[in-house]
Amino acid sequence: MKTIDDLIDGGVAGRRVFVRADLNVPLDGTTITDDGRIRAVVPTVAKLAEAGAKVVVASHLGRPKGAPDPQFSLAPAAKRLAELLGRGVAFATDTVGESARTTVAALADGQVALLENLRFNAGETSKDDAERGAFADSLAELADVYVGDGFGAVHRKHASVYDLPARLPHAAGYLIAAEVDVLKRLTEDVERPYAVVLGGAKVSDKLGVIDHLLERADRILIGGGMAYTFLKAQGHEVGISLLQEDQIPTVREYLERAAAKGVEFVLPVDVLVSPEFPDLKTKAPANPTVVAADAIPADQEGLDIGPRTRELYAAKLADAATVFWNGPMGVFEHPDFAGGTAAVAQALVDSSAFTVVGGGDSAAAVRTLGFDEKAFGHISTGGGASLEYLEGKTLPGLAALED
Ligand code: 3PG
Repeated sequence: MKTIDDLIDGGVAGRRVFVRADLNVPLDGTTITDDGRIRAVVPTVAKLAEAGAKVVVASHLGRPKGAPDPQFSLAPAAKRLAELLGRGVAFATDTVGESARTTVAALADGQVALLENLRFNAGETSKDDAERGAFADSLAELADVYVGDGFGAVHRKHASVYDLPARLPHAAGYLIAAEVDVLKRLTEDVERPYAVVLGGAKVSDKLGVIDHLLERADRILIGGGMAYTFLKAQGHEVGISLLQEDQIPTVREYLERAAAKGVEFVLPVDVLVSPEFPDLKTKAPANPTVVAADAIPADQEGLDIGPRTRELYAAKLADAATVFWNGPMGVFEHPDFAGGTAAVAQALVDSSAFTVVGGGDSAAAVRTLGFDEKAFGHISTGGGASLEYLEGKTLPGLAALED
């Protein structure tokens, strides 16, 4: 895989370099609530600009339906990128239309432009190779060289991730190179004990990675909404907690496999419950109560791991040499249910292990709960992408950057 340094050595001054970033940041209206993904691409964009390239940055944001939708505009990201770069960022109000063409044509050497949300064009995510290819052809007209740096999207077979690099000389940006280095460390010669903490709402999103980790990890700790399907599989009632009934047989099989293989599978021993889901806008007090994980009342919903579980999980992480964590332990967006996620983050901070926070919500949680990013070994920008990498899957956006 060529790197951006190879590109720069070959000379990029005056060339239009398309940087596929992942600026899919959480927004509250037009306010960016976590700019981690924008900061992560700054080294690549800054380096190219300093080397005199005309930098054309592009990304998706959210899941618009293949047509312009103002709530998913990248305009706030353009503003933030400019602040972080300390240089202007011209914003094109479309992807491959008049605005994109004139904005790119007007770039002087060392200047930066950001295109509007790539998913405003149906060709970006199309399952139809020809439709995706046609969009990639139009994007290719805007650039001479391609740099892949949107690690969070490399698991997507999308036009700008997969088809466009096939049409241009290409290289990996600094972010992708750093992410791949870390994930290699988790898949090749991992230092043991290797503990994995998995949370988040749905167990169905994590089946592949659990299946894979059962062969590799020494300890798997489960939290978040997905824990209730495991508790139910163990025969406990879970009240009105999130439950994926259809996954119970799979989850039960995992528990059996873990036991047979000597992989320690750790489930919550207590949880915070409330009769209703908390209001995340007003953040009105939800007055949760703590109950044992095998005694969740029928009319209550589990929304975070409880205090005994937090201690148990911290103890299970304390002597690990490697820790991978993906997915919050509870509804961390509400202060009453942020304690479990904060406790796991703190356990990672306190540990001397090589700690990796796997993207998406857990990365946002770490930052919004006020932890110092530098206290972690690595905070990935890719949620789904890092999970699929750990599953051993071929990621289209990485395969496309191979020579
Ligand atoms: C993410 O948030 O995981 C990436 O930006 C990919 O987004 P997607 O799941 O909408 O493809």
